[in-house]
This record gives sequence, structure tokens and C-alpha cells, in this order.
Amino acid sequence: MVGKNRKLRLAVSALGLGLGMLLAQGAAEAADKVKVGLMLPYTGTYASLGNAITNGFKQYVAEQGGKLGGREVEYFVVDDESDAAKATENANKLVKRDNVDVLVGTVHSGVALAMAKVARDSKTLMIIPNAGADELTGPLCAPNVFRTSFSAWQPAHAMGKVVAERGHKNVVTLSWKYSFGEQSVAGFKEAFEQAGGKVVKELYLPFPNVEFQPFLTEIANLRPDAVFVFFSGAGAAKFVKDYEAAGLKASLPLYAPGFLTDGTLEAMGGAGEGLLTTLHYADGLDNAKEKAFRSGYVAAYKIQPDVFAVQGYDSAQLLAAGLSKAPAGAFDKEAVMKAMSAATIDSPRGAFTLSKANNPVQDIYLRKAESGQNKVIGVAAPKLADPARGCKLMN
Ligand code: PHB
Repeated sequence: MVGKNRKLRLAVSALGLGLGMLLAQGAAEAADKVKVGLMLPYTGTYASLGNAITNGFKQYVAEQGGKLGGREVEYFVVDDESDAAKATENANKLVKRDNVDVLVGTVHSGVALAMAKVARDSKTLMIIPNAGADELTGPLCAPNVFRTSFSAWQPAHAMGKVVAERGHKNVVTLSWKYSFGEQSVAGFKEAFEQAGGKVVKELYLPFPNVEFQPFLTEIANLRPDAVFVFFSGAGAAKFVKDYEAAGLKASLPLYAPGFLTDGTLEAMGGAGEGLLTTLHYADGLDNAKEKAFRSGYVAAYKIQPDVFAVQGYDSAQLLAAGLSKAPAGAFDKEAVMKAMSAATIDSPRGAFTLSKANNPVQDIYLRKAESGQNKVIGVAAPKLADPARGCKLMN
């Protein structure tokens, strides 16, 4: 009788131990996960950009067997609609409700500026996979805010030099009126006027309007030597088609940062052929990472990647670089940030490092749209660093 009781007690305590171990293991696994908040546009004119960034990010995670720096990834996703008015509330959903370890977003600079304020106030790690507002790695730079894409200044400044070198003197600019468009025009103008050119008129229309006709009429009447624009996504495809339909393409050279033609050439149906753009990525770059990335992307998503997909992929790479150097267990933000700042990212665009302001130092390519591809024809600005004016981290 006694023997039987003893056996039962032993069996029960063994079961308890087993359960306890299982629970402890479960807790360790839960703590080991990294909670990633994706705040991107999945509707509206920038929807294709948000989708490409998401695809690129998930491609890198899939290549690592579903993990980043050895941790399972748990996603929390918000469609920000490129609507700055909803941005603070949307970012707070991810930070306060879902308690994410890292905020990844977004495309639209106005939305990103509001997100970055939430990240700064809550000291949440943030990775910007597109939005180029100069302030984000300028006066508003912060040790916990990283960017894997570009500043507005970078491709636009490079284009200012190209347009001057091509002998154009008088340029009219046209863009959506919000921070990124205005800062692209400013970056272009700075380089173009330094080289002796003149921006004779800056034209703007509200984001995301696509009623271009009155602007095309005004441009034709102003008779400049060339036109510089910022448009992207669905609006870019419509603009280039309208520009050609208005009869301007043949007579008035059009230049832009490469957002105009990345991911949009097919939708332009030939109207984009021949356009010269500047960007930190191009089709057919000759490096091993680009080749592997492109074939992996095509296999997974059945479409060609674009610059936005690259930026999503590199955001995951940057986070992995941070996590792989941090101790196991709970998310150690300081250790992750330190390793991220020091990382060299083996990107399909070519390897890049981050400036002290946490913005990529990278080659800006000159590209020509040919047979539906943005082919690299030169390097417009090698290893270009944003000046990061007003960023205190630069000292
Ligand atoms: C931005 O708002 O920062 C932005 C949006 C679309 C682009 C590039 C920059 O293609």
C-alpha cells in the first residue's frame, strides 16, 4: 500500500516537473520572439510601395528560416493609408497596444514624421524603409531612429548636377506639395543652381491629386529647357502618360529621382521609355547579392523587385544585424541599436553603411529606362552621404 502511494507521488511530481519545464521553455520562447510592427500603406497611390516593402522584408526573414538573428518573428500590421492625420493613432496602436519591439515604417514622409515622434517619445526602435523627409535624419535625428532608404536630398541633389552637366539652364519643377516633394525640389535646386542653372518656377499640387493637365499647360507656356518632378506609385504612372499625351515628351526633357519609374514602367505602357532618373538602385546591377535577391523575389512573388522591395529586404537585414549581436532572452534595445549603427549591409543596391545620423551612405546611380527596365548607365554621385544638417548625433 505504502509502495503504491509512493509510486503515485513520484509520478505526480515527475509530471509536475515536466509541466514546469514545458512552461519555462514556453516562456523563454515567447521572450525570444521579436515583435515587428509593420506600418505601411496597403491602399491608395502608394499601396504598391507598401506591398513591395513587406515582400522584401519577409523574403529576408524566409531566407533565414523564418527568423531574424535567431528569433522567431511576430508581425503586427497596420495600413497607414499614407494619411498623416491618422498616423499618431496608428503608430500608438503598434507601440502601446501591441507593444512591438520595433516599428517598421513607412512610405509617406508626412506619416513617417508623426511615427518618428511616437518612436522618440516612447524610445521605441524605428526603422524607416522608405520615407525620405530630410528632418528624420536631420534636425529630428535620434539614436533609436534608423533609415535604410535615402534622404530627399540624396537622389535630388545628384540629379541637379546631372541636369546642369547636360547643358540645361532653365528648369521648371512640379511635385506633390508635402515635405518630401518640397525637399526633393530644394535638393535639386541647390545642386543645379550651384552649377549655374536656374529653377524658374516651382509648381505644386496637393497629394495625391493627379489632375496634371493645367500644370502641363502652364509648363508648356513657360518654355523651360527641362522639367524636374517628384511623383511615385500610381500617380507617377499617370503623370508620365499625361506628359507624353500632352506632346511634351518629345520636346521637353523630363528628369526625376528614380521613384518616378521604379515599379511603374509597365503601367506607363511605353511612355516612360528613355527617361533618365537618379536613384540608389537600378535594374541589372552587377553584384552577387542583387542576383540572388532578384531570383528569390521573382520565385516567391512572381514579379520583378523594385527599389521599395530592396529597402524592405535591407530593413530586415539591418534588424538581423542588430539582433545577432545582442544577448539572447529579452529584447535588448541598446545592444541592438549599437550593432545596427555599426553594420555594413550587403544590399542588392551595393554594400552600404550608416552615417552617424543613421542614414545610408550610398552610391546614387544614373539610370535610363529601356525595354521596361531602369538600366544603370553610370554613378551620378559615389558614396553620397546626406549632409544631415541640424542632426546633433553628427558631432
Ligand atoms: C516620401 O513621402 O518620403 C516618399 C514617397 C514615395 C517615394 C519616395 C519618398 O517614392
